[in-house]
Amino acid sequence: MWKWKQLGIVLLVTAMALVAVNHGLNTRLQQQGCFGEIFSRDGQRHFSSRTSRPQRQDHSSKVYHNWELFSLDYEEMVKSFKVYVYPFGNSDYSQVFLPHPDPYDRKLGNFFSEHMFKINLLNSTFATRDPGEAHLFFMPFSINAMRNHPRIRSEAMISSFVESYVEEISQRYKFWNRTEGVDHFYVGCHSVGRNAASNSRALQQNAIQVTCSANYYQKLYVPHKDVALPQVWPRPLDTFIVPPEKRTKLAFFSGRAQNSHLRETLLKLWSNDSDMDIFAGTMQGSYEDALSRSKFCLHVKGYEVNTARISDALHFGCVPVIISNQYDLPLSNVLNWRSFSIVLSYTQIPALKAKLQSVTHDEYARLWSNGRRVKRHFGWHHSPREYDSFQMTMYELWSKRHFVRAPL
Ligand SMILES: *[C@@H]1O[C@H](CO)[C@@H](O)[C@H](O)[C@H]1NC(C)=O
Ligand SMILES: *[C@@H]1O[C@H](CO)[C@@H](O)[C@H](O)[C@H]1NC(C)=O
Ligand SMILES: *[C@@H]1O[C@H](CO)[C@@H](O)[C@H](O)[C@H]1NC(C)=O
Repeated sequence: MWKWKQLGIVLLVTAMALVAVNHGLNTRLQQQGCFGEIFSRDGQRHFSSRTSRPQRQDHSSKVYHNWELFSLDYEEMVKSFKVYVYPFGNSDYSQVFLPHPDPYDRKLGNFFSEHMFKINLLNSTFATRDPGEAHLFFMPFSINAMRNHPRIRSEAMISSFVESYVEEISQRYKFWNRTEGVDHFYVGCHSVGRNAASNSRALQQNAIQVTCSANYYQKLYVPHKDVALPQVWPRPLDTFIVPPEKRTKLAFFSGRAQNSHLRETLLKLWSNDSDMDIFAGTMQGSYEDALSRSKFCLHVKGYEVNTARISDALHFGCVPVIISNQYDLPLSNVLNWRSFSIVLSYTQIPALKAKLQSVTHDEYARLWSNGRRVKRHFGWHHSPREYDSFQMTMYELWSKRHFVRAPL
């Protein structure tokens, strides 16, 4: 008996020590002002308490949270991950399912990633014809193709189409009913797809949505279930990257205020500042040039979150500054976003210029060169390359697979 008592005391003391250490750590973090820089709901308090003292810039230089763990698991994925793609069928609607014949068509812009994912998957070793060995099941409807289909088009029709599609696969195949869709996924890369699942409860609640609108305020985005798709605008691969010392503008932003309070504040405070290129609405001059001459590129939540801007910034060597609470950055379980971008809360817009100017030469060089290191994750290729957007999205899906399923 006495041994148990002793053990109890040891455990109690250990627990108290852990609480103390944890408390010390929290206090230290607060003193260092780390909390104001991460997404925070009550940023106001952090902001006002931080203006009075110098702000510490702590951009960890590690690009990956844990490269060893990640790369081992990634290799495992490349070897073993299998996805069953439901057949396209042969009806008036087969266009909705077939891979796009020309994904580089510039008109597709915002939907490029959606199409590239499907094209890459179908032509990969991940796709299997044997549902028995599949970890996940892909429902290959394309939001963009539905948008352009003469008999679908509207967002309401998209939801109905998707509803009957789920109904159909649950009647014709055994796989949906086994898990109520938990091991199923679909991909949609633009705002018109955000409510595609609205008529199907199981699709909303269980299936994995791979989406560019990874925003907590989207009604049908479920952060711990869904996957943020890297949204990339198709661009030539061999862009010349302007080095840091040749970048003459502090920051660049161009966008409509729309119904975004945040953007309104940004434009009101900073659109006339000659150190920065802050344009309301359509900008003057070339977008590419602006990305190349600025040190920082701002991504401010508008009506929709558009991550293509972030990939554009990385593509042109401009350090992303993300001003948006409640937003899941793509690949954030693997990438340390703070090593190559700056994340600010809403309330830091008035201090924006001071904040960016306080980034030292060395810190900027580190952010900039880390951005070049992660760039390969934000690009799609006709034949996928290691660690590109396709492989990384597959990795995200791999990490969502379930290990135990009833046999059929
Ligand atoms: C499929 O992959 C092969 C090998 O990488 C490539 O040669 C071919 O062009 C690809 N086909 C399509 C349709 O992407
Ligand atoms: C799956 O469940 C639905 C609803 O209960 C049922 O109508 C359907 O027949 C089932 N599918 C199969 C393949 O058994
Ligand atoms: C910017 O400058 C223009 C021209 O001087 C002026 O009309 C405008 O009101 C200014 N805008 C802001 C937001 O200060």
